[in-house]
Amino acid sequence: MCGIIGISAKKNVSNDIVQCLKHLSYRGYDSAGLSIAKDNEILERKIQGKVTNLENFLNNYPISGNCGIGHTRWATHGEPNTINAHPHTISNVSVVHNGIIENYHDLKTILEKSGVNFISDTDTEIISQLINIELINGKKPLEAFKNTITKLKGAYAIVAIFRGYDDLMIGTKLGSPLLYMKAKNMILLSSDAYSISDYGSSVTYLEDGDIIVTEKSKISLHDHSLKTIQRPSKKIKKRDKDGLNGYDHFMIKEIKEQPDVLSHALSYYLNFSKYKINLEKYNFDFTKINRIIISACGTAYFAGMVAKSWFEDIANIKVDLDIASEFRYKKMFFDNKTLSLFISQSGETADTLAALRHAKENDQKIVSVVNTVESSIAKESDLVLPIFAGQEIGVASTKAFTCQLATLASLVLFLAKKKRHINASQEKALIEELVHIPSQVLDVLKYENDIKKIAKDIHKSSSAIFMGRGATLPLALEGALKLKEISYIHAEGIASGELKHGAIALVDKKLPVIVLAPDDIFYVKNLSNMNEVYSRGGKIILVGKVQNDQLKDLKLTGINIEVNGKLNIPIIMSIPLQLLAYHVAKLRGTDIDQPRNLAKAVTVE
Ligand code: AGP
Repeated sequence: MCGIIGISAKKNVSNDIVQCLKHLSYRGYDSAGLSIAKDNEILERKIQGKVTNLENFLNNYPISGNCGIGHTRWATHGEPNTINAHPHTISNVSVVHNGIIENYHDLKTILEKSGVNFISDTDTEIISQLINIELINGKKPLEAFKNTITKLKGAYAIVAIFRGYDDLMIGTKLGSPLLYMKAKNMILLSSDAYSISDYGSSVTYLEDGDIIVTEKSKISLHDHSLKTIQRPSKKIKKRDKDGLNGYDHFMIKEIKEQPDVLSHALSYYLNFSKYKINLEKYNFDFTKINRIIISACGTAYFAGMVAKSWFEDIANIKVDLDIASEFRYKKMFFDNKTLSLFISQSGETADTLAALRHAKENDQKIVSVVNTVESSIAKESDLVLPIFAGQEIGVASTKAFTCQLATLASLVLFLAKKKRHINASQEKALIEELVHIPSQVLDVLKYENDIKKIAKDIHKSSSAIFMGRGATLPLALEGALKLKEISYIHAEGIASGELKHGAIALVDKKLPVIVLAPDDIFYVKNLSNMNEVYSRGGKIILVGKVQNDQLKDLKLTGINIEVNGKLNIPIIMSIPLQLLAYHVAKLRGTDIDQPRNLAKAVTVE
């Protein structure tokens, strides 16, 4: 996802912009740039690649001034190169933009017919061109800006600076986050609070359609008709300096944080002393609900897959699950007894947001399970269930996944009890399972050295298969996603029962087959799958019940997972898969926290 920074101060802002861009870089990007308005000029520096490339460029060709904008770009329209990098400066205006201008092609065609020459292949340039035309026609910056955004369709956050206005920034947002901070002798605009938390402890989020104008130390907020408005400020957490706390990568830090953040999430939803679920506080009427539709993307979708089996098995509620990008093109048979539930770590995933809006247009009650409660998805939900995972910087989702599961498990138990599908002792037993999860995660993290050895053994593989059954099938899919997205090894997750229907053709002595086999009703069947793999020379890695006489001939390597509950298995068994992916990627030297081509939040459809 792209990242936006704007800074106006009493000092040169170029270095501060670069430092803030560095704190945005976890979002995934492929180019970076900044521009500064000074002495009736707009000075611009932008370059393909990492922010360090921009920093080196500035060391050789410095620019300075008191008001500037910066951007990290994740390419949507136009390949990732310097020309397409932001800012986009056209004569009198320079613009940075996050999101997509859906009607840019029509607007561009009109301008090209009137003789305007475009420099880049981006949708963003249309914003600069349109504002520039307004300025040439004599409009002042705010009117030029407002007239331009009324022509735009799509989701965006935009900040602009203007030639001849050395202290002026104007910004707006529609569907993509934008916030501001009034710091000491400085005003900062950003896509997310994390990137500017070194400068202060509270920020103000713009709402869709708001226009912010900053001039010297003055800030004014306007609605779409330019009427002045106010928005509340919010406290934010300080970013720990490098944020890594001594770890090599954010991903391993976040894997290791799971016992803590899971305790935090579970203690919010469970009353451990009374063994009760604390969801009464949300006076949300679930009584009529007899069906749930779940939709999400990627890892969040796999969390939804796990939740489907829980809702149906424990709460006896039918669940229809769909990938968000497919959701709104299918007949979902909405009715007033159906609840639509959306899962998203970032709360900004465009596919999931679009699916949510489709459900809302069909009069659905919307529940969202998110990590970012200020996000667009949260704001458009009737009930928001936070997952309390804390900032997840690594592009590969780890602690957010397990905290999504913990939150969903709490909702499942709450509804199961409400619908009297479980009695008090069953509820207590299931809560008991949840209570022990943080310590069980801690226990599984102790296998890290064993997992490092397995990683060493498989890190040169060209592909891998993950197999699961029942509640571990989503984990097989998630384990494959983790491995492929950070190590770039092709990996696929399959239902163990499907092995013999095709995938077994891939099995040879070079192919690692990761089998998820807890001590559950499928164990015997998983054993025969392992024999099928072994007899064809495949390399078996068992995550699950390793203590079994029938395994000794299979020469497998294993991570012994003793737990065998309903709610704890998917959370506990995802930990070895996260560690395996991490250590394989580390051995392969890939960019673990910002894997190539990936973004932390995919805000484009
Ligand atoms: C997970 O490791 C991936 N980075 C990706 O699949 C992610 O889960 C997906 O893009 C959904 O993101 P969200 O949870 O922020 O909506």
